[in-house]
Amino acid sequence: MSLKPIDKPAELTVEGKSYAIPILQDAMGNRALDIRTLRKDSGLIAFDPGFASTAVCESSITYVDGEKGLLSHRGYSIEDLTENCTFIEVAYLLLHGVLPNRVQREKFSQLLNRHSMIHEDMSTFFRGYPEGAHPMVVLSAMVVSLSAFYPEIEQSADREELDMTVTRLLSKLRTIAAFSYKKSVGEPFVYPSQKLSYCENFLNMMFSSPVSDYKIEPYLVKAMNQLLIIHADHEQNASTATVRQVGSTRANLYAAISAGICALWGPLHGGANQAVIEMLQMIHRDGLSAETVLEKAKNKADPFRLMGFGHRIYKSYDPRAKIAKKICYTILDKMNVQDPLLDVAIKLEEKAIADPYFQDRHLYPNVDFYTGITYRAMGFPTAMYTVLFALGRLPGWIAHWLELRQDADQKIYRPRQLYVGATQQNFVPLEKRP
Ligand code: CMC
Repeated sequence: MSLKPIDKPAELTVEGKSYAIPILQDAMGNRALDIRTLRKDSGLIAFDPGFASTAVCESSITYVDGEKGLLSHRGYSIEDLTENCTFIEVAYLLLHGVLPNRVQREKFSQLLNRHSMIHEDMSTFFRGYPEGAHPMVVLSAMVVSLSAFYPEIEQSADREELDMTVTRLLSKLRTIAAFSYKKSVGEPFVYPSQKLSYCENFLNMMFSSPVSDYKIEPYLVKAMNQLLIIHADHEQNASTATVRQVGSTRANLYAAISAGICALWGPLHGGANQAVIEMLQMIHRDGLSAETVLEKAKNKADPFRLMGFGHRIYKSYDPRAKIAKKICYTILDKMNVQDPLLDVAIKLEEKAIADPYFQDRHLYPNVDFYTGITYRAMGFPTAMYTVLFALGRLPGWIAHWLELRQDADQKIYRPRQLYVGATQQNFVPLEKRP
């Protein structure tokens, strides 16, 4: 633990007995009650479903100010990183804590290229999936399968060995993602090329085929880099917390990332980008007005929610959504695409932002609201959107797994509960049960 308590602790009084609770203050001035010994000292535990008021670790990777709508990685703003870096530079920053210099960036690119192939035996796995299998299934299964083909990192692994495993995973996930798409459309796999950059390679593996070349447009490569960067990390979100949870049992990197991919898939998390497009398509197809949709989203008896809106941390406009909206306009303009779904989205945003229900609850577009429209214009099928989120989030997941490993104070994640089941029952033998 690097944090030290501030001078004056908080005081908790229960049934006339007082307990001093140390207060920790982070680098940005946020304060937390340090309740690690609360149960030992008082017999009490904290109740916080969904961890809305609970910090589970110290971290020096990413900072989010949800009130002001700010996001930074290692101190660099997301706006600066998106504007000036490639995705692999941001991946390096998350993993190593510093932006790479020219030599480091070159070496990192070469390593990524060198490890981009997956074991040929693994490509037979893809054939086992039924037609139309969701690429997230394939992605998660393939990642955990990597541990059968490539050596796991030992607890004692040195930094070089660790870097190799990490680079291998970063590189191979891109290949697996593209292969899972090719499998879903019944086309032959396109292998990675050492001549291409990370994002060029990914676009080429996705969209070229033995019968047609794919022209790798620089503006699409730039957009791909930017889209991956805005997904690269987001501190203790559900999938990262899952990676840490699995990692806290000392499960290997591949197992932890595979679990993270599964957590990401849910429509309240990364699966929202697919859910947004499906919602916009439904609105467009059924000719629903924005007002009708918002009424439905506000109706507590209706499970429908406005997908791509709201966030646990952001109580103002998600800075990633601002960047995603800008990329969306640029790409549609460059490609000369008029997508009616963009008009539906803009209308929904306008009406929602002016509506007291959304204002009172501080609900704004999140990162998933505009990305799908861009992916659609670029040619990605809907089922691939969450895979793209996973590809972007991978360096963040790995950085958190590494941080957890290096944190001597980390314990196995093991929350408590409040039990509300039967207290005591007399055992009934099978033949006497009703
Ligand atoms: N549409 C309608 N009402 C909403 C929405 C929404 N999208 N989001 C939140 N609310 C309401 C919710 O009903 C609750 O109202 P009340 O106070 O009257 O009960 C209030 O706002 C607070 O919501 P919550 O569910 O307690 O907030 P949370 O922090 O637990 O959930 C969320 C955050 C992202 C799961 C939620 O906002 C949501 O379901 N959004 C839609 C799904 C989505 O877009 N997810 C992507 C998140 S960003 C990408 C990522 O990192 O995964």
